[in-house]
Amino acid sequence: MVREARLARENLVLPLFACPGERVRREVSSMPGVFNLSVDEVARDAASAFDLGVPAVILFGLPESKDETATGAYARDGVVQRAIRAVRKSAPDMIVIADTCLCEYTSHGHCGVVREGEVLNDESLELIAQTAVSQAEAGADVVAPSAMMDGQVGAIREALDASGFQHVAIMAYAVKYASAFYGPFREAADSAPAFGDRRAYQMDSANAREAMREAEIDYAEGADFLMVKPALPYLDILRQVRERFDLPLAAYHVSGEYAMIKAAAARGWIDEQRVMLETLTSIKRAGADVILTYYAREAARLLR
Ligand code: PBG
Repeated sequence: MVREARLARENLVLPLFACPGERVRREVSSMPGVFNLSVDEVARDAASAFDLGVPAVILFGLPESKDETATGAYARDGVVQRAIRAVRKSAPDMIVIADTCLCEYTSHGHCGVVREGEVLNDESLELIAQTAVSQAEAGADVVAPSAMMDGQVGAIREALDASGFQHVAIMAYAVKYASAFYGPFREAADSAPAFGDRRAYQMDSANAREAMREAEIDYAEGADFLMVKPALPYLDILRQVRERFDLPLAAYHVSGEYAMIKAAAARGWIDEQRVMLETLTSIKRAGADVILTYYAREAARLLR
């Protein structure tokens, strides 16, 4: 009766990884319960998640091949574009979010265009915008730019509007830290950078004021949602963004956060269900409206 923060199924977004082939379900070793799924299996998993009450998916792609200019990210028949269309069919009322980044599609694994060992911010914007438009064309309701290139939200908004996709929303990974908690994801998405790291474009975990600036910029460029990522180690940031901005706020409970709970639970050291619900509730309490989590289905089952 007096509970303040209420975690609900409606708040959850399930990430899915689309890969080539048919009837493929390849478990990610560092993320038990998470799979690389061929498009047909993505369609099936999305529909079953929707039936459990999870209203939204966010889609990532493992392309057939990778190259310097991330061609697979904006190909009309790219793996994510096909997955979007398949989910539209298998779960017509599901909200389809497409992660908009280049790192899964570039041969070097960086989130932007690379020349002479440098990630080029401005030259990446065009490809990122092109990726967003192709995802909208395929039927995405929301695009979620995660490359942390400066100006990406504005570039995407402009490109979407120019192509007749004024109604497609932008969920901006506004505050994204250069985090070791993404380790298992990079196995799942095969997107570890081949050289260097992402510290030139992702944020330093020690910075909170900079987070407000990042959020402010994306807000000004027309973001429809702001996101903070990772979630649990950055609850203070989540709370500050909540207090400063009136946009819907998302938090990404990332791969490493999921893997830690899984690993401890597998050893019988913690109670998985309780730790999971406590974690997700704390993210809600800190100020998130929307939580992206690999636990979306398990949580939805328990929240019935
Ligand atoms: C793409 C992207 C990443 C994640 C979401 N989008 C990886 C990264 O920045 O290296 C991480 C999600 C997770 O760890 O669950 N740029």
